[in-house]
Amino acid sequence: MSSAEFGPDINKINKAKGALHAKILAHNYQIPEVHAVADVIGDSLELALAARDTDAEVLIVCGVRFMAETAKLLNPEKRVFIPVPDAGCPLADYLTPELIQESRLRYPDAAVVVYVNSSATCKAAADIVCTSGNAVTVVKSLPQSRIIFGPDANLASYVREQVPEKEIIPIPADGHCYVHQEFSLDDIRSARQIGGTILAHPECPEIIRHHADIVASTGRMIRIIKKNDEQVWHIFTEEAMVMRLRSLFLDKEFHSVQSAVCRDMRKTTIEDIIRCLDGLQGEIFLDQDSAEYARRSLDRMLKASVS
Ligand code: 13P
Ligand code: SF4
Repeated sequence: MSSAEFGPDINKINKAKGALHAKILAHNYQIPEVHAVADVIGDSLELALAARDTDAEVLIVCGVRFMAETAKLLNPEKRVFIPVPDAGCPLADYLTPELIQESRLRYPDAAVVVYVNSSATCKAAADIVCTSGNAVTVVKSLPQSRIIFGPDANLASYVREQVPEKEIIPIPADGHCYVHQEFSLDDIRSARQIGGTILAHPECPEIIRHHADIVASTGRMIRIIKKNDEQVWHIFTEEAMVMRLRSLFLDKEFHSVQSAVCRDMRKTTIEDIIRCLDGLQGEIFLDQDSAEYARRSLDRMLKASVS
């Protein structure tokens, strides 16, 4: 869509936002058109904090379902909507409350940490939540030396490397994000041939993380690039992150790994946002009992990681 075609849509969305006292929260992986109408753009932790602190009455979360659920959990008085209700996260689907309960029986002395990429019912069954940006801080904050960690086994192995004094048990043993799992050493070799700095998301497999220069959440990637004089960056995470970085740092060169596309993150379009605002479709409703426990796990994360 050209910017001229896009203008009337922006006006329409801004008008609807004003009338509803609504704000749009968009993940870093959303496409530029969605970012153009967003009030907040960020990583999972930044979106969660924005949802908690907002003065808006209505929140439209452009990302995947667990992000909209997290917004609702942190600000239950607000109406929260997801423009494409079936935008899910296949990584989150690896974990179930039953799997958490089985692991608790097996390791009764362990604390259960779940990645924010999980359902509200899994958050309710856990002791505490973490994001990719604060997983190490959250695990270090716990008194237990044994930690059950799900559903991302790659993030679990990253935490194990950073907190070697604790035993980290991934549940399930093979949970992963298909987008990050696909990166190969050939991709690393191609990046090294061009030169520059390689930034990898903690959801990448161990071999990729070890060959990268820096491992960081999407939010931290932005902060690192801002502070650094390096001109050329290779971004080992979802491809749209590079569009976000190009919009922020016009003078720097960014390379992505082609085909690193999250199909669910790409589902949301401007038309979906307009439909959502017009008809107030795609509202998030959560089971009250489990929402209370899930909120407790999220609050513990915020206490442990955000001062
Ligand atoms: P961030 O918290 O780094 O934004 O990651 C979210 C995600 O889904 C990564 O694939
Ligand atoms: Fe889930 Fe991976 Fe998509 Fe992130 S990129 S939302 S972890 S499937």
